This record gives sequence, C-alpha cells and structure tokens, in this order.
Amino acid sequence: MRKKVTKAIFPVAGMGTRFLPATKSVPKEIMTLVDRPLVQYAIDEARAAGIKEFIFVTSRGKGALEDYFDHAPFLEQELRKSGKTDLLDALKATNMESGAIAYIRQHRALGLGHAVWCARRLIANEPFAVILPDDVIAAETPCLEQMIDAYEETGGNMVAAMEVPADKAASYGILDVEEDMGSVVSVKGMVEKPEVGKAPSNLAVIGRYILSPSVLTNLNKMKSGAGGEIQLTDAIAQDIGTENTVYGYRFRGQRFDCGSKAGFLQATVAFALARDDLRDDLLRYLQEMVQLDKAAQ
Ligand code: G1P
Repeated sequence: MRKKVTKAIFPVAGMGTRFLPATKSVPKEIMTLVDRPLVQYAIDEARAAGIKEFIFVTSRGKGALEDYFDHAPFLEQELRKSGKTDLLDALKATNMESGAIAYIRQHRALGLGHAVWCARRLIANEPFAVILPDDVIAAETPCLEQMIDAYEETGGNMVAAMEVPADKAASYGILDVEEDMGSVVSVKGMVEKPEVGKAPSNLAVIGRYILSPSVLTNLNKMKSGAGGEIQLTDAIAQDIGTENTVYGYRFRGQRFDCGSKAGFLQATVAFALARDDLRDDLLRYLQEMVQLDKAAQ
C-alpha cells in the first residue's frame, strides 16, 4: 500500500505586487473571492483530499494570514447569542484543529522550489502535496482529490496539467509528454517558462502537485533556473526516469489564474454565479452591462 498523502505545503511568501496597492497591507491570499479569502479555497480543497497537516511558507507582512486561521470564540459567542446560525456555521467551517497548521518563513525570495524546500523538515520522508492558492480550481470533485485517486495507481510525482494556448506557454512549466493515456500522461521532460516557440507541448503545469520526498533532496542542490530562481519544476524533472518518475494529470474542472487581475475578476463572477443568493441579481446586472456595451459600439 502506498503511504497516504496527509501533508500539504502552501507557498504564500510572494509579495503580490500585481495587486498593489491592495497588497500593501493585505496579503494577497486574504483577498476575497465573493466572501471567502483565496486561501480558504485552497484549504477546503486540501481537506477534501484528506490532508491533515497544513504547512504555510510565509514571509514578512503575512501576519493577517495567521490571524485568519485563529479561532474567534468571542465572535462565535456573539453570533450564537444573536441567533445568526448561518454566519456561525460559515465561521466554524474555517476553524482548523489545534496543531494542524505550521508556518515557516522563507527568508529570501529565491523561487518556488526554494519555498517548498524551506518546509523540508516538516515533510521528512513521505509524499506530500503542494497547492498554489493563486490557482483556484472550480470542480465537482476537487482537483487534489482527483489527483490523489490517480496517484494511488501511479505513485511517483504527479503534477496537475492543462492545455494552454501556444502564446501563453512561456508563463508556465510545460510538460514534454512521453505517453498520453488520457487523463494521465507520463512525462519525459519539463521546462519552466520556455522561450517563445520552444515549448515541447502546450500542456502546462497548474499549481497542484503530489511529490515524492526525493524532490526535496533534489532541491538541496539549490540550482537556479528560469529567471534566476530555484524552480520546483526543475527539481521535479530530475526524478524523471527514476522510480519516482513524473506524471501529468489532466484534471476535470475550471482553473482561474487568481494571480492576475483578469483571472481574479473572472473567478469572482464565476463563484458568485454559482451561488443561489447572488446569481439572479448578478446575472441581470451582467446582461444589462453587455447590452449597454453593445449599444455603445
Ligand atoms: C508556477 C510554476 C509553474 C506553473 C505555474 C502555475 O509559476 O513555477 O511551473 O506552471 O505556477 O500557475 P508562477 O505562476 O509562480 O510563475
């Protein structure tokens, strides 16, 4: 039997400069999609996949993130007193078990690979997940859960994958596919942010990973790659062809790039439209906007 994946790393040390001035005082991960912070979507997805230990790799200025995960007994008491059970339930759903969360500081911004490596002592010698909260995935079965099911068959390392337009490949880690088995592909190479026209395919890595601890050993070499950063993609690629070889997993679901403003807004609209209490009003408003826009053309 394969060892269960019960630990997940959430790299959240980035400064979120693309969202300045908002991120001057609010960590990007606390910015809200409808009424839940970005990070809550990542946590919920991890929980659904059976994750029990949540490791955040943070940096200076991320204090609000730690506060967010504290229980709020006074607030709970107030809501209970005033009979606001819906809000009380919403609040309680964010409570984490004591000791389930750990925070590690990434002292220098040396790249995603380095951020993951910072958590090595908490991972020790077992497979682990990595979730990039910027990539929000709406799916009937949460993406990481789909991957864990597939991983139980394959073992090794597994990365979420999605086809992207050729002119966007330079923004991603790209897979060089060895064998395409449908939702699972085996991989013979991986390139982080390939130069335009040099991508081996248009199958991109999306921010969900199930990794073998061997990737942490590979990261010990501290080799810098694309953009002069220590890249997670490169450390995973080193395992290709070993007993921990690499698979891509084409997930079922819609991915939003919440690291970009356009992606964040699209996710906001999509998640709001999925809510019974918001859908009708928002849809009406959007239809009006589209008509006004057409009329103005
Ligand atoms: C990171 C990874 C990249 C991956 C992407 C997915 O890049 O390095 O391989 O394709 O996330 O969102 P970043 O977006 O942090 O530049």
